[in-house]
Amino acid sequence: MREFQPKTIIEPFRIRSVEPIRFTSLAERQAALQSAGYNPFLLRAEQVLIDLLTDSGTGAMSSRQWAGMIASDESYAGAASFYRFQAAIQDITGYQYVIPTHQGRGAEHILFKVTAKPGDIIPSNTHFDTTRAHVESTGAEARDLVIPEGRQPRLIHPFKGNMDIEALQKLLDETPRERIPLVMITVTNNSGGGQPVSMQNIRQTSQVAHAYGLPFIIDACRFAENAWFIKTREPGYADKSPIEIAREMFSYADGCTMSAKKDGMANIGGYLALNDKNLAERCRTLEILVEGFPTYGGMAGYDMEAIAIGLYEALDEHYLQYRIRSIAYLGERLVAAGVPIVQPTGGHAVYLDARDMLPHIPALQYPAWSLNNALYLLGGVRGVEIGSVMFGLHPDGSETPAAMELVRLAFPRRVYTQSHVDYLAEVILEVYQQRHSLRGYRIVSQASVLRHFTARLIPLD
Ligand code: F0G
Repeated sequence: MREFQPKTIIEPFRIRSVEPIRFTSLAERQAALQSAGYNPFLLRAEQVLIDLLTDSGTGAMSSRQWAGMIASDESYAGAASFYRFQAAIQDITGYQYVIPTHQGRGAEHILFKVTAKPGDIIPSNTHFDTTRAHVESTGAEARDLVIPEGRQPRLIHPFKGNMDIEALQKLLDETPRERIPLVMITVTNNSGGGQPVSMQNIRQTSQVAHAYGLPFIIDACRFAENAWFIKTREPGYADKSPIEIAREMFSYADGCTMSAKKDGMANIGGYLALNDKNLAERCRTLEILVEGFPTYGGMAGYDMEAIAIGLYEALDEHYLQYRIRSIAYLGERLVAAGVPIVQPTGGHAVYLDARDMLPHIPALQYPAWSLNNALYLLGGVRGVEIGSVMFGLHPDGSETPAAMELVRLAFPRRVYTQSHVDYLAEVILEVYQQRHSLRGYRIVSQASVLRHFTARLIPLD
């Protein structure tokens, strides 16, 4: 008998514990959205059928993770769970000093408080919002230097998250050494569409940073997804395992910040991992103040157990193939039907391009917000607007259109099956059919910063 190579990529797990989702009528969703001020962040989760607000902390844990959690050690200091957590991180990253934090932003807070000062510049491909906010809160500037291809939604390029090496070199040439505390890179590049960074680019960024004597730090939230893209797209890596690729990625850097809510496969947690003993000691001193004792850093012992196991599960080839394929599958169905999306699809989400889809809605009537609300009204699907509501308001109170008007549909890990994705495609295609009837929105109340979380809006007629 010949070996059979199936075309169907199946979910690489059986489901033994299920969580019901609640179906609602159009009238119920209309009432729910109205009472939420037409802001999906203000909906109750049980009013949502398919929740794609984020892939952060929303994944399903495995039976092995749950078993590890039951067997956790909750000692305040020196818990066995910490040592298992530390060993997993050291094994995968090679970094010696592991500083646990309550989530990714806890690690960012510590790193930048300790390293950055007013007037400094921190270059990255693209800083995630919380990273940017922590850099800016020290008075430093967060400088995004992604390659130009990374800014064009429909341009096909295998590694649209790459750092613009020339631009980085130029910045380091022109800036006094003491004004750049470190160089950062985000894998995958969440703010740029979940796009991967190539091994070659990580290596070059490392060489440039080190030539100037600067530490190089990876924002590693989605490191396993990035490793999969390197395996499948970069010459020379097809026969390497994801963990070998991850180890090589980390080997070029001096440390990482991590939100274990993503490729740690956990519902909460994070860490800062470093090779520099002196820097690690300074970070630990601040950690005690803001996160907790250095062997728990804001997590329960069982959270550290879940992460110690989850980091390896995120690197499983069958899991990664299923995950990246689910996203690509939705992307292919949408592209075939002419729906404008960011291409190629990235690691954790599909991004719909509302500016292209809804040219009749002006930017400051929030086309991406309108599209996201339509997905909820029509199909009970919740995504997130990444457009002018999120980025349009400035500290001086003025408002300008954002660079792009996107709706991000982020997939929780191991939660939805292919039929959920088929349903999702159907909902998006139906909204696309009805796109000419969509209307803009007006904001009736808002906070002065991060307004998208709490703003209340009304639809225009
Ligand atoms: N870095 C990146 C690239 C992220 O995507 C996130 C979180 C963080 C850092 C911060 O980690 O939430 O654990 O404090 N991203 C989530 C999202 C919130 O929806 O994309 P955290």
